[in-house]
Amino acid sequence: MDIKDATNRIIELRSIIDRHNHLYFVENNPEIGDGQFDRLMLELRTLEDSFPDLVTNQSPTQRVGAAPLTGFSEISHNIPMLSLSNAFSNKDLSAWYQRHYSMLDDTDFEMACELKYDGLAVSLLYEQGLFIQGATRGNGITGEDVTLNLKTINSIPLRLHGEFPDLLEVRGEVYFPKSEFIKFNAQRELEGLQTYANPRNTAAGSLRQLDSNVTAKRPLDIYVYALAQIQSGISFNTQLETLDYLKSLGFKVNPNNSLAKTVSEVVKYHNIWMQNLSSLDYDCDGIVVKVNRLDYQQHLGNVGREPRWAIAYKFPAIQAQTRLMDIRLNVGRTGSINPYALLDPVEVGGVIVKQATLHNSDYIYSKDLRIGDWVVIERAGEVIPQIVRSDKEKRTGSETPFTMPVSCPSCNGALVNKADEAAIYCTNATCPAQLERLVEHFVSKGAMDIEGMGGKVGVSLIQNGLIADVADIYFLQKDKLIQIERMGEKSADNLLRAINKSKKQPPARVLTALGIPHVGSEISYLLMDKFTSIDELIASDQETLLNIPSIGPKISESVAEYFNNPNNSRIIAKFRSAGLNMISASTSSSENTNLLANLRFVVTGRLDNYSRTEIQDVIKKHGGKVSSSISKGTDYLLAGQDAGSKLVTASSLGIQVITETEFESLINNRTG
Ligand code: IVH
Repeated sequence: MDIKDATNRIIELRSIIDRHNHLYFVENNPEIGDGQFDRLMLELRTLEDSFPDLVTNQSPTQRVGAAPLTGFSEISHNIPMLSLSNAFSNKDLSAWYQRHYSMLDDTDFEMACELKYDGLAVSLLYEQGLFIQGATRGNGITGEDVTLNLKTINSIPLRLHGEFPDLLEVRGEVYFPKSEFIKFNAQRELEGLQTYANPRNTAAGSLRQLDSNVTAKRPLDIYVYALAQIQSGISFNTQLETLDYLKSLGFKVNPNNSLAKTVSEVVKYHNIWMQNLSSLDYDCDGIVVKVNRLDYQQHLGNVGREPRWAIAYKFPAIQAQTRLMDIRLNVGRTGSINPYALLDPVEVGGVIVKQATLHNSDYIYSKDLRIGDWVVIERAGEVIPQIVRSDKEKRTGSETPFTMPVSCPSCNGALVNKADEAAIYCTNATCPAQLERLVEHFVSKGAMDIEGMGGKVGVSLIQNGLIADVADIYFLQKDKLIQIERMGEKSADNLLRAINKSKKQPPARVLTALGIPHVGSEISYLLMDKFTSIDELIASDQETLLNIPSIGPKISESVAEYFNNPNNSRIIAKFRSAGLNMISASTSSSENTNLLANLRFVVTGRLDNYSRTEIQDVIKKHGGKVSSSISKGTDYLLAGQDAGSKLVTASSLGIQVITETEFESLINNRTG
């Protein structure tokens, strides 16, 4: 293809991709499948690879992949980013409305009602229709340049649609969708990482990452709610008209915006959304009421840093009062002792709450919570209920202050403080409660994936003394198993089969399963990519670990501490004697060959004889490479049943497609 054809095709592809991106992320109404979309992206990426001079900053390929920054530069806002005054009652709202009568000489001006998203405000600047700069609010006058991070948000257009002005600056709220937040925290928990308290702080943290590739992994979203400046002579009459225009340029504007002609219509809007908050996938802490006519807004102007023409009418936090019946303790898999509150069951915003987290002992002491206290609890959206405070006036004198025990509630082992951490830990390696949590993790889907061993089965094996550490799982015997309650011959056989099968899991899974703090699945795969075996990892020094990108002192220290513990060494030794897979596929055993050296495979569809991980291991074992997406460099597409779009991509790029049988004979022929 010559440069002229490439230019034309690149331009065409970008606009097709931008359109589908918009349909998917803004309109929530895709016209094509993921596979088709990937294919378009691949074609564009391939063309841009061959003609690097044609790459532009706003190409859809440029949403990710930028090098980390060393710091954010400051940006001063041409138009300050204002804050809002608050109303907490219908009375406050009426007062705000009535103040404007005389100023506007209009007794029934209209208002735009919008939701007040609880995320963080950003400003987006476009020149000649191209997104060139994005900033945080900062102090309202100067913010930080977070352009690269904002580019990773798919619902932010990199190029405006239709007829665009020469210059445009819009304001909006970036948020972390609630459903994604729950998934995100669940994944962090699995990795032994601290979970985040709420979507808002997580959105803020994600947007302030120096490495935009980290931000790209956080599914942030945005609603645009204001026009800051525009140069092109287009003018609008009202706020809602302005938002319609921004929508036509490709921005994501909230569909629940609404016009109110009277204060009582605003109150209705406020009530409806207060009751329907849980139907939204984003946190809102109120509504924003804006005088709709822009000439009126102009006339009213600002007081200090707040506009007169807008007000936030906050939702009351959903609170309730109840008795704190007891403070109990959970033992986590790392031994952390986690206090929680047992409450007299109470309804909070339509949900019965019986327990609330208490985080750690500092939290209990700083709030001076006592068993028997009346407490105020608060629930925000889907987030776990929290105790806000205790009602000291209601104390009768019979309340008992809480003292953190000095020994583990499960095993009586000594509890210790760790530097820089509020939590207290049980360090007994044979603590049954820790073991229960650890076994639960060890057998879970993302770890050794042992079917039939989760939940009660694991607990009862521990309680019956059949396992004293996770390695004992591999030495279970049928005659002992069937003595356990509700464990028949058949379930025992199935369980043993599942356990046996898990021995083939790749070493990265074994590493994940150990549950070393800060070493989840992603880090485990990364580590096992660098080391040829778990033994090599154990023998490595901290410096070697620290030289691996993405591995910092927290992880390297955690790894070292884990393997320095003789109890853990014993577990590893038992794994070895049980025949677990501790050597990376590409270097393991006598079966290793170089048959597939330098050949790049992509695997798609369902295979008959291998799981996805197994086939990948076979390929690696023979020196081949596996990628997840097809590119020019792919040598073979190994396609199983129901192979989807990758087949089409492969044929369009002239890549050889082989079946499972053909793959096997490829190895055998080459062997023979
Ligand atoms: S308009 C001049 N509309 O609330 C008014 N703000 O307290 C500027 N916010 O920093 C804001 N939803 O981050 C507006 N629909 C909405 C909003 C909204 C959330 C936030 C925004 C602003 C803060 C002001």
